Formats: sequence, C-alpha cells, structure tokens
Amino acid sequence: MSDTLDYLITGATGQLGALVLKQLKAAAPGATIGALVRRPEAAGALEAQGFAVRVASYDDPAALDAAFTGVEKLLLISSSEVGKRAAQHDNVVNTAKKAGVKFVAYTSILKADSSPLTLLPGEHVATEQALAASGLDYALLRNGWYSENYVMGASAALEHGALIGAAGDGRISSAARADYAAAAVAVLTGKTPPRGTVYELAGDQSYTLADFAAALSELGGKEIPYVNMSEADYAAALEGAGLPVPVAQMLADSDNGAAQGGLYSEDKTLSTLIGHPTTPWTQTLAAGVSVKV
Ligand SMILES: NC(=O)c1ccc[n+]([C@@H]2O[C@H](COP(=O)([O-])OP(=O)(O)OC[C@H]3O[C@@H](n4cnc5c(N)ncnc54)[C@H](OP(=O)(O)O)[C@@H]3O)[C@@H](O)[C@H]2O)c1
Repeated sequence: MSDTLDYLITGATGQLGALVLKQLKAAAPGATIGALVRRPEAAGALEAQGFAVRVASYDDPAALDAAFTGVEKLLLISSSEVGKRAAQHDNVVNTAKKAGVKFVAYTSILKADSSPLTLLPGEHVATEQALAASGLDYALLRNGWYSENYVMGASAALEHGALIGAAGDGRISSAARADYAAAAVAVLTGKTPPRGTVYELAGDQSYTLADFAAALSELGGKEIPYVNMSEADYAAALEGAGLPVPVAQMLADSDNGAAQGGLYSEDKTLSTLIGHPTTPWTQTLAAGVSVKV
C-alpha cells in the first residue's frame, strides 16, 4: 500500500465513483490514486486497475483514520444510505481534518440551501455546514439530477404503456453521471479553488416528463403518454410497484420538488468546467433503452 496518495475517492464501488476513478486515471496518469471501499472483497478488482485500495465504512471513524493517512485530496461521494448520511459524513469530515487532508470536494445536491425538495437536501446541507465549520479547504459539487434516474423507469413505462410521475410541467436539467464525474476530476486536478467554492452543476438542456415520454414513445415505437399524479398518489403507485416506502416517498418528493423548479437550472458551470457540452438526456435515454429492449 502506498503511504501517500495524491487523491482518495470514496464510494469507489459505486457508479459515480467508478467513473471518477477511470477519468482521474486518464487525467492524472502519474498520480497515486486511492479508492475507498467498505467491502474488503471489492478491493481486488480495483487493485487490478492500479488503484490503492483503502477499506473503511463511513460508520467507522477508526478505520477512516487509517484510510486517510497521507491523503492530499479527498473526494467525498455522498453516501447512499439516506437517513444516516449526515452522521456518516461528519465522521469523514472530522477524520479528514484530523488526518491533515489538504482539500475535500463533496458531492452535494443542486441548490442545496434553497431547494424545494424536502427529503434529500437536509443531509447535504448538514455536511456543507460541517465542512464550513471544519477548517478544511473544501469545495461543494452541487450535482443536479442524473439523467440515468428517469431512464431507470423507462422500461417500466414501456411495459405499462404510460410514464407516471408528479413533476407536472417542471423542467429537469439533468446530466449524465459521466458529466458529474468529469466535473469532480476537473476540480480535483485543477488549481485548488478558494475555500468553500460552490459549483451548481446541471445539464445544458432541460425537459419536462411529457418531453421525456414523447422521446420514449419514439424510441419504443408506441405512444407512451405522461400521466401526472399528485405526490401522494405517485408515492402510492411506486409502493404498489414494490418499491420500499422510503424510496417511493423520496422519488415522489423529488418529483414534487421538480414541479416547483427544484431540478431546473440555467447554470452552465458544468459544461464550462468539463470543457464540452453535457451529454444530451436523449442520448442517455437511447443508450438505456437499447440495453433493455
Ligand atoms: N444526483 C443524483 O441524481 C443522485 C442520484 C442518486 C444518488 N445520488 C447520490 O450520489 C451518490 C453517488 O451516486 P452513485 O450513483 O454512484 O451511487 P451508488 O452507485 O449507489 O454508490 C454509492 C457508493 O457509496 C458507498 N457507500 C454507501 N454507504 C457507505 C458507507 N457506510 N461507507 C462507505 N461507503 C459507503 C457504496 O458502497 P457499497 O458498494 O459497498 O454499497 C457505493 O460505493 C449516492 O450515494 C447518493 O448520495 C445522487
């Protein structure tokens, strides 16, 4: 194991983390890059790709302490354990400070401090505040919606002949995970930004769920109408389809927030940062649907 690391990427076994590692390796070929995993069995595949694996759960400050030794720059990819994240991220922030990490980039949520979404932003705001209070040098990558989120429901919509949601006419400025990964790599490999720099990151294009249903209809070769529901009815429909209650509520709340503009942004920071237009949502949809049908 290398003693010092130029970069350590958390959530390395996740979808965003994998893209960051791949892009970072290409952007900084001589750098020592670490991958933080919580499952030791995930180490082998990452080591085979040349990454220095460190093992720790966000729940385990002692393991984090060992994992953060000698780390220059840390990318904290937010935990997927909704409800436990603020405490988990506190562990990461406190340990990073103790270990002398020089810079932390954190994946937050678009418009974290003014978002109309009610369920997701709170934990991100708590972590943003913890970073501000920590004394660490840090930047906030306030990621907008992944285009892949709605693509996940595309095959169910094709199967049932309708796309359901609660986003009304709200426009969604999503981008592909790969775009957000590129932004993280740009911030990590660039000149360290002023302490607390906020990057509001969103796709160049936006769409309503009716637009999404129209594009899906074209791809699927059949009419898929968009059926708008109340937040409560949409949550109940998702639960009826077998989603766990907290997930159904989170998705319905996000759609309700989208109806109020919470997933919309005209900010072009993301394409500026990555040096090219963001991936068109129609491209992500076409790729997702062609894999499934
Ligand atoms: N902007 C958006 O639209 C959007 C959508 C969904 C999620 N998100 C957020 O963005 C993050 C990254 O997205 P993603 O698509 O890469 O999610 P993902 O594929 O679910 O990856 C989550 C990663 O977090 C790791 N993790 C979870 N709990 C952990 C813990 N206690 N200690 C250490 N690592 C832990 C997971 O490890 P394991 O492999 O061991 O589970 C995994 O590597 C998510 O975690 C979530 O906070 C954003």
